[in-house]
Amino acid sequence: MKNQKIYTLGIETSCDDTAASILLNDNVLSSVISSQDIHKIYGGVVPELASREHQKLITPTVNKAIEESGIEKEQINSIAFTRGPGLLGSLLVGTSFAKSLSLGLNIPLIEVNHMQAHILSIFIKNNKQKPDFPFIALTVSGGHTQLVVVRDYFEMEEIGTTLDDAVGEAFDKSGKILGLDYPSGPLIDKLAREGDPLTYKFTKPKVDGLNFSFSGLKTGFMNFINKESLVNKSFIKDNINNICASLQNIIIEILVEKVELAIKKTSIKNIVICGGVSANSCLREKMKNLGDNNSWNIYFPNIDYSTDNAAMIGIVGYLKYKNSITTDLTSYATARYKI
Ligand code: KG4
Ligand code: ZN
Repeated sequence: MKNQKIYTLGIETSCDDTAASILLNDNVLSSVISSQDIHKIYGGVVPELASREHQKLITPTVNKAIEESGIEKEQINSIAFTRGPGLLGSLLVGTSFAKSLSLGLNIPLIEVNHMQAHILSIFIKNNKQKPDFPFIALTVSGGHTQLVVVRDYFEMEEIGTTLDDAVGEAFDKSGKILGLDYPSGPLIDKLAREGDPLTYKFTKPKVDGLNFSFSGLKTGFMNFINKESLVNKSFIKDNINNICASLQNIIIEILVEKVELAIKKTSIKNIVICGGVSANSCLREKMKNLGDNNSWNIYFPNIDYSTDNAAMIGIVGYLKYKNSITTDLTSYATARYKI
């Protein structure tokens, strides 16, 4: 297979982004993401609406990805799709579309675990540095917060997870309390840049070992905002930057402490941080500094492939195709899917 040109179509529909991408081997030729703005007015993803939007968007999104890549659809060698985890109705759209197209083009179908894809996005060609195995992955997204030991491309073991909310939810739900648009993570990140992270102190959850918990922090945050707003009606407006900076500071502190513990427990010093929250500038900076001070190797996927996208599905498709791992047409979407 050396020097062979493999074209992979990646399809991602696990949540509220309809995405398609074409890769030539590990190189991304196109990556199209059709975000569903409809959820903004509800302050979170409405599963029923997400499925309907995927139905509308999937064909134009895939067509656009093929067109932007400059190849003909007949050149595609395999189709990789997100099988799970995610919203079942959303996953069904991508799964059925991928199956039909693989039948129509008579090419292999490859199922992909969305969380594995976040991790393996680090192997997309334009990332400057790639980690050696084994490495620890911290997957931080709207649905997951996991610590994973990655021994090889498809040999992964979860060593820690959240007991309740995911870290992205902590950002989004706290943002909702502040009246910010969904998703609030990027907005909190931006507002925090102008604030002092030491202004307000929030209680850190006490969770043993490598697991996480964020729901207590969210409740504590809500109580704090309600109490302060009783005294000063415009408390949020007057202090938005300091509130965001303080909240972000504690969330990132929780993540960083668990990564440090995972390194101590496993003696693995290569760390990949991935998933939507890995776009956070404070997390990037803190981890980079820690890495520099301790001689740990810290890797972040390219920012374009941090939040949900189909290039990360495509790279897994390519890696599986190279290893002759394909999927038969009885494959089905699954909301829960272990890494
Ligand atoms: O991986 P992703 O795109 O979708 C899921 O699989 O969930 O992650 C989305 C999550 C959202 O909760 C969003 O608020 C968060 O990632 N996020 C951020 C940032 N960019 C996206 N959180 C903090 N800072 C950011 N810059
Ligand atoms: Zn994701």
